[in-house]
Amino acid sequence: MYNLLKGKKGIIFGALDEKSIAWITAIKCHEEGAEIVLSNAPVAMRMGEINKLAERINAPVIGCDVSNAEDVENLITKTMEHFGGGFDFILHSIGMSINVRKGKHYTEIDYVHNLKTFEISSMSLHRVLACCMKHDALNEWASVVALTYIAAQRVFPDYNEMADAKSLLESVARSFGYHYGVKKHVRVNTISQSPTRTTAGSGVKGFDGFITYAENMSPLGNASAEDCANYTMTLFSDLTKMVTMQNLFHDGGFSSTGVTQGVIEQMEK
Ligand SMILES: NC(=O)c1ccc[n+]([C@@H]2O[C@H](COP(=O)([O-])OP(=O)(O)OC[C@H]3O[C@@H](n4cnc5c(N)ncnc54)[C@H](O)[C@@H]3O)[C@@H](O)[C@H]2O)c1
Repeated sequence: MYNLLKGKKGIIFGALDEKSIAWITAIKCHEEGAEIVLSNAPVAMRMGEINKLAERINAPVIGCDVSNAEDVENLITKTMEHFGGGFDFILHSIGMSINVRKGKHYTEIDYVHNLKTFEISSMSLHRVLACCMKHDALNEWASVVALTYIAAQRVFPDYNEMADAKSLLESVARSFGYHYGVKKHVRVNTISQSPTRTTAGSGVKGFDGFITYAENMSPLGNASAEDCANYTMTLFSDLTKMVTMQNLFHDGGFSSTGVTQGVIEQMEK
């Protein structure tokens, strides 16, 4: 423990179960001294798992479907009441695609579902930040992190419409990062994480082959959920104060690697 987040307060979205990146991040932030409000979609909260986490880190849970304006408004105002004022960080760890769930091919997606995907997985970052700005909810030098994937830059066919959703998410982080930076020194970044075995991750078709491929294509191997939680914490700390509007690859070197010796040897078999 470094007490990196002593005195800091924030919202963590997206802890579904103990495999969730958000779940592990919440525990780490708590260990580093942060006070946390947990949030997830009411439908996900019905599983009840989140209450175990809430108890462990002594955090309230406030339900919020991020595609619903009233829910977001309620979350931000209740969080401010709970903390007695503004707060210092937000983790956006949210992704959902009905087209992926239904197994629709990218070339045949349903556009109504596609809009929902963008609303939940991408524009929700905008909605949350806009609501925070309206209520002046974020303190000076607050830090906002959203989780993304390299399919925003390169094609991974089975990632489907989530690739477009992640491109939009990264763009919102950049654009809002500009406005919130000028207004209040609030920083907004995305972390582009290695494939990780979670509920959302395993929803991608062919995930097993895919995670092994990424492992073999990364000089350091895949970054785990715990590694991601550690990295996220550094972005919430004051040690990374001048980092904003960035898409930060956290992938063991995957994004800069053309091919590895291991992969060449497999191809030669
Ligand atoms: N697992 C991976 O391989 C991987 C890799 C890179 C990036 N990511 C990203 O990390 C983030 C977290 O995913 P995870 O892998 O921990 O999986 P996860 O399934 O544990 O988390 C996804 C969360 O999104 C929440 N969510 C869905 N719809 C919502 C809504 N309408 N309102 C509020 N919350 C909603 C779910 O309830 C869940 O808690 C996602 O953005 C995901 O795309 C995951």
